[in-house]
Amino acid sequence: MRITSVLPLAALALAAVITTTSTPASAQAVAQTPPMGWNSWNYFAGKVDDKGVRAAADQIVATGMKDAGYIYVNIDDTWEGKRDETGLLHTNEKFPDMKALADYVHSKGLKIGIYSSPGPKTCANYEGSLGHEEQDAKMYADWGIDYLKYDLCSFIPAVMMKQAPNDKAAQMRLMHDAYEKMGKALKATGRPILYSLCQYGWDSVWEWGPALGANAWRTTGDIAPNWDSMYTILSQQEGLQSYAGPGHWNDPDMLEVGNGKLNIRENRTHFSMWAMLAAPLLAGNDLPNMKPEVKAILTNKNVIAINQDTLGKQAHRVYSEGEVDVWERDLSGGAKAIAVLNAGSDRYSTHPFHLDLGKLGLHGAQSGKNLWTDKDIQLTDHMPIEIASHDILLVRIASPK
Ligand code: GLA
Repeated sequence: MRITSVLPLAALALAAVITTTSTPASAQAVAQTPPMGWNSWNYFAGKVDDKGVRAAADQIVATGMKDAGYIYVNIDDTWEGKRDETGLLHTNEKFPDMKALADYVHSKGLKIGIYSSPGPKTCANYEGSLGHEEQDAKMYADWGIDYLKYDLCSFIPAVMMKQAPNDKAAQMRLMHDAYEKMGKALKATGRPILYSLCQYGWDSVWEWGPALGANAWRTTGDIAPNWDSMYTILSQQEGLQSYAGPGHWNDPDMLEVGNGKLNIRENRTHFSMWAMLAAPLLAGNDLPNMKPEVKAILTNKNVIAINQDTLGKQAHRVYSEGEVDVWERDLSGGAKAIAVLNAGSDRYSTHPFHLDLGKLGLHGAQSGKNLWTDKDIQLTDHMPIEIASHDILLVRIASPK
């Protein structure tokens, strides 16, 4: 009796010692709310260069995005050059001095991110980290890197298919080990580097990612700047809400706000829902040429506050009726956010919509704030609500009844 009651306590004490001594306090603090910043890929892809990254950093400050919370300036694929005889990876001609670039970004009060792959090559066929994980992690830390996106790509054919051609479980173990290896290498540097997994949600990464030190993991394939892509990815997030929380987030991919074919309503809906999902908010547009209406969306403080709520509870879809989806999210202090989204392509297909407050666990009329108009709104049960095609009503209720 005595022994059994003492042993777990001793084990707990030991675990506490191991945890506190092996994880520096600074590392624990990474991504306590979803990371916010900018990434080069969605707009610039292979055209990203030193000048473009500096311009993005300048614009993040000049546009007020920094004040709104955007901190990470992330270089995606195509910065990599060749390895020398010591195995050290050099940058290519687009990035003459990565340390100087990191210093520049830091001098603006921002943080800098980079990209690699556990395979021999990246997705754009540049040099990957296979066999050089520790060396690369150390180099990132020496440069002052704050964020790594680690993208599976060539690891699939080069390692998984090759070493375990007919054994799915063994392939998944290889993938898992590769992500664990880089997680450990980053941790060994002693620098707090946000670790973002990009393997498209394979093998339910949300179940094992946090244990490897991941702060975020992609849940799907790549987003594209059109409604169908964004809405498909959004719908795939339902069911993942319990896996998000401070320090570790589901990542439905970077923002396409301001890109491609998305109109103003679609941009607003995309941004609203990524905020509701507690997703990383990584803008992916051309910042120096950003339109005012796009800037207004990306810097909407009401909406960002939903994303950055310290409870870290991801939204879930409560119900759908016709082509209208109703999502809700619990916020700190007992508040609630509700999103009513019209996915119909015809403005009148769901006109008007009658919100069922009972389905949201609410009783009678509710006082809230419309986060896009910044005006008070009264929600009464089954009241008719007009929502244009691909638009959204986003409401924060401070004291739900
Ligand atoms: C993959 C990723 C993208 C981007 C590209 C770069 O497709 O999912 O987000 O990083 O690789 O090559």
